[in-house]
Order: sequence, then structure tokens, then C-alpha cells
Amino acid sequence: MLQRTKFYKAILLLVPAMVLYACTNSNRLPDKVTFTEHIAPIFFKNCTVCHRPGGRSHVELATYLQAKNYAASIAYMVRERQMPPWPADPHYTEFSEQRLLSEREIKMIEKWAADGAPEGPADKMPALPHYASVSSLGEPDMHIPVEPFFLKANGSDRFLLIKVPFELPRDTYASVVEFEAGGQNVVHHVNGDMVKYEFDKKSNVMAGQRVVDMVNDSNIVIAYQKMGLPNDDGTYPVLEKSVVNYLPGVYAQRYPEGIGGFFLPRKGAFLLNDLHYGFTRSQDITDSSFINVYFSKSPPDRLVQEFQLGTVGMSPVEPDLIIQPNTIKKVSSRFKISKDISVLTVNPHMHLLGKSFKAYALKPDGDTIRLISIPRWDFNWQYFYTYKKMIKIPAGSTIVAEGVYDNTKANPNNPFSPPRLVQDNKGSMRATDEMFQFIVSYLPYKEGDENISLEVQAKR
Ligand code: HEC
Repeated sequence: MLQRTKFYKAILLLVPAMVLYACTNSNRLPDKVTFTEHIAPIFFKNCTVCHRPGGRSHVELATYLQAKNYAASIAYMVRERQMPPWPADPHYTEFSEQRLLSEREIKMIEKWAADGAPEGPADKMPALPHYASVSSLGEPDMHIPVEPFFLKANGSDRFLLIKVPFELPRDTYASVVEFEAGGQNVVHHVNGDMVKYEFDKKSNVMAGQRVVDMVNDSNIVIAYQKMGLPNDDGTYPVLEKSVVNYLPGVYAQRYPEGIGGFFLPRKGAFLLNDLHYGFTRSQDITDSSFINVYFSKSPPDRLVQEFQLGTVGMSPVEPDLIIQPNTIKKVSSRFKISKDISVLTVNPHMHLLGKSFKAYALKPDGDTIRLISIPRWDFNWQYFYTYKKMIKIPAGSTIVAEGVYDNTKANPNNPFSPPRLVQDNKGSMRATDEMFQFIVSYLPYKEGDENISLEVQAKR
């Protein structure tokens, strides 16, 4: 999370998003807008998932008094479309579970704040929705603590390899494996795999060191041995890549039954690669993160696959991602697909110099398929965007991702003042190095995929 002062500077300097919703202007607002009657329902639908005790934000907006204190700031944030955070342009492409206020809802909030934030009749106050832990997916079937990690005040970035072993009564399947970042928001990035043991080959999955610091100790084979990852006979178990990922603002994705998911062996371990603790902090803290596992009744019929454009991906960044100080730089990456695919989810990724991002596919017949546009890049909110319905991209199409970087002092998130040369550093995830990536999750195309809805009701 950026420091708050920077966060404010960012808000003040940014151009208001001109996202207007059709036809809502004419709907008359109530003469008296009150919290209990009109505002609480909007907040409970769009805000309290983060602004509540235990939510992503330290600001709570769950009661009248909490909201009243922030009324002016709330009116500003919703008008500027800074809140709820949804950087993707809804006029370019729409996504499932997109969090956006209508123009009428924004006007209502503005009127409420301007009229002195009245409370309204107490008996009209709706009940706060029930939120299960920090997850938006409901109560997990398995909630496994990640080894708590102590971080000294004002420490440098840490890159850790962490083992999170588990043992189950029987083999089963998971629909989702989610990384739940500890409450202080210090985890910057996680890319997690799963070690899958054959039951007889490993006597004790719990043994071995849980945490290895990859800066001091960068030999991966030695690290694996210290962690006790090999089988009893010294051979290696199967490693399934990218089972659990986390970036700032990311929520785990659940697909409809039968799509995606994982086989979970009786004995296994999640292996969090390069768990990155970023940003200097003013006090010592201990991070306690969790892995949440949601079981599924049946094995997945269709396994989700993934490819990645750009930094350490299938296609190069062009021109090279070397951003001179005091310049704006535009790069792109192009990848031609050889078979028909059905795209489920996309994830654009840049760091602090990111300014805007756009991706689309060029079909062999010259038509364009829109994938995503982020007119105003926001480092804090890098969602995995899932479409409302799968998007078919035919064989022979070229997927194009374009990014613009701002390495001038006008960029309030520029980590250096005065600006310095910043570049892609072999996929280094340090926030002060840059990256340009576009991750596409897809299925091999099947007739009718375009009609399958990906909007899954979270079991709240
Ligand atoms: C996905 C999570 C999320 C959602 C949804 C969300 N917010 Fe926020 N909001 C944040 C975070 C994170 C911050 C930064 C402050 C912090 O770190 O706690 C923030 C900051 C704010 C602030 C500035 C607080 C301050 O420090 O003065 C306001 C006001 C605000 N949000 C209002 C809203 C409103 C109103 C909604 C719904 C219409 C909303 N937010 C939806 C996560 C969220």
C-alpha cells in the first residue's frame, strides 16, 4: 500500500474519470437523502467489503458515525471514481463482479454529504452483510496459517520462500486456493505452487524449515533440502505451478463448478515463491497471512491454462523496457495464438511508473476483440479481471498489450525524486524496478463457450 500522503497526492493530481451512466440523470433524488434509508444500502453493497472491521482498509464505514466523519472525503472519492477502486474502463469491456457506482448513486452520496450527512430513522438501517473472515468467497473449508513473519521497522524489501504443509484425511479437489494477506497490508506479491506427494513416499510433510530468505540464501536446491521438500528417498515430488497468486488488491477467482480447480493429495505443501514484503514501515510488525482452501465436490472437467505476454513471458517487450528519467515511454508485446481459445480472466501488471494499459486481440480478418483498458493505472489495484462470459479468440489472432509509463516528476507515484533510469530487471518484482506483463487465463475453445456465464455468486 502506498503511503497515505502519496495516496492523497495521487488523488489530487489525477484527472476525474468521465464515466457517466446512461439515463440515470433524470431519476429524481429523494428530497431528503439519509444514511439509514439511502446511503447505507449503497455502502453495504459497494464499500463495506473493505471498509469494515477486519476488511482491507483501516477506515471503517459500517456505522452512521464512522461514515459521517468521512462524509466530505467520501463524496470526493466517489465523484472522482477513486472509490470503489475499479481501474478498468467499463465502456471498453465489462467484467463479472465489477464494483462501480451509478451516476445516480454518486449524486445521492454528494447530496447527503452536502446536506450535512443526516442519519435518518434508526429503524430503516439495514443489517451489515455477514462477512466471513477477510475472504470475499465465504468461509473456507481449510484455513492454514502461513508461518508468521517478523519485520523490523524501516527494513528493506524481503523475498522469502515459505512452505505451508498440509495433511488431509483423503485425496480431494479444490475449486479455489486463496492467499489471505495479513491485516497490515505488507505483503506485496506472492506466486505459489503446490507440492504433491505420493502418500507412501513421504513420511512427514511437516518436518523441515518453513521459511528461507532468498536474498541471503539463493540456492534453490539447498533451500528445498532445508525445507525437507524431497521425498524420503531423495527424489522430488510433483510441483504444480501457480496454484495461488496474490498482488495488491487481488481477490481469488472462483469459476463455475467444473471449470478450473486442483487435485489435492492427502499429503502436500503450498510453496510460496518470492513472498515479497515491500515498503518501509515505521514500526516492527509480525505478518500473519493465511491460505484458504475451498473444496470442490468433483474433479474439474476443464483445467484452466495460462500464458503471459511481456516480462519473462512468451513474447518480448518492445522496445526494451528501459525508461529514461523525465520521459513518457510506450511499450507493447504481441503474441500470436495457434488455436481457438476461450479467455476467462486477464491480469495486467506494471509497477509504480505505470500510466495506462490496454490489451486487445487482432483477428486474422482484421477485426479487433477488446480485452481491457485501464486509462489510469493504479498500482494498488491490480485485479485478475474475469469476463462476464468467456471471450472466444480464434486461432491466428495476435494478442496485443500496450503500456505507457510515466517517469517524470508529474507522476506522484514515481519512487525516485528526481526521476532516475528505471528498467525491467529480469522479472525482479521489487516495486522500484519495472515490469510489463499481461497474463491470460483460458480454456481450449469449445462450441458454445461464449454463452457460459462466469458470474458466480460468492457464498457470503
Ligand atoms: C476493494 C476494497 C475497497 C472498496 C470496495 C472500497 N474501498 Fe475505499 N479504500 C480502500 C483502501 C485500501 C483505501 C486506502 C486507505 C487505507 O489504506 O485504508 C480506501 C480509501 C478510502 C477513502 C479515504 C479514506 C481516508 O483515509 O480519508 C474513502 C473516503 C473511501 N475509501 C470510501 C469508499 C467508499 C465510499 C466506497 C464504496 C462506494 C469504497 N471506499 C470502496 C479500499 C476499498
